Amino acid sequence: MISINIYNDDCIEVMSRLENGSIDLILTDPPYNLGNFMKNRDTNLGKMRKNFFGDAGWDDMDFKEWEESMNRFFDKSSNVIKTGGSMIIFMSILKVETLIKIAETHGFYYKTTGIWHKTNPMPRNMNIQFVNSTEAWLYFVYKKRTGTFNNDGAMYHDFIETSVTSNGERRYGKHPTQKPEILMSHFIDLLSNPGETILDPFMGSGTTGVAAKKLDRNFIGIEIDECYFKIAKSRINEDKQA
Ligand SMILES: C[S@@+](CC[C@H](N)C(=O)[O-])C[C@H]1O[C@@H](n2cnc3c(N)ncnc32)[C@H](O)[C@@H]1O
Repeated sequence: MISINIYNDDCIEVMSRLENGSIDLILTDPPYNLGNFMKNRDTNLGKMRKNFFGDAGWDDMDFKEWEESMNRFFDKSSNVIKTGGSMIIFMSILKVETLIKIAETHGFYYKTTGIWHKTNPMPRNMNIQFVNSTEAWLYFVYKKRTGTFNNDGAMYHDFIETSVTSNGERRYGKHPTQKPEILMSHFIDLLSNPGETILDPFMGSGTTGVAAKKLDRNFIGIEIDECYFKIAKSRINEDKQA
């Protein structure tokens, strides 16, 4: 019997109360904090960022503030994760090196920077520039060089390709940066075992929780925004999924 515990709160507060060394895999997709960067540039994307992210209030910190928030996040993560536990954290490619430096100061061993490629991205500005179709993810193991890696002899590339989140999944998630379920399942399958515990401290509409539950993992999810929290709750608990 697996357990699901989700919280509508600031992740730093909740992680301070979780049991030390109780998490096997942290799988999370925090705000990339590109709101200010994009707003200050004269692009169509600037407008989109303002509408979806800047105005959402969680994507527009200045760089120093963001760095400090990630420092607090890795500090709490180092308390709650087991030795040998893994972390996958999605991030803008622009921020990868900074994040690795912060993670290493908290005992996380850096393994990989990988790419998620979307096969059908929005063809925005396709006649004047390269269409944005990728996001990065970083893979760390806490205080060990190797963690669970259920590859069964198969070779896994540092690259995963899926379509963008389907309309069927979006119907219930309604989050501007909702990830496809198959993407989260990929990491849960490979980096944890049934019965283990997955934490997503920035759970948004709860995609990690939906995937964790289907794969028989315990799940702890945290979301600060009440509206997204309610959506995550109904997706995870009431099985409102595509
Ligand atoms: C990129 S979204 C996650 C989307 C998610 N992967 C999904 O599929 O729906 C990041 C989320 O983190 C939440 N957030 C931002 N700061 C937070 C904090 N301090 N504690 C908890 N949640 C936070 C935001 O409200 C936002 O919904």
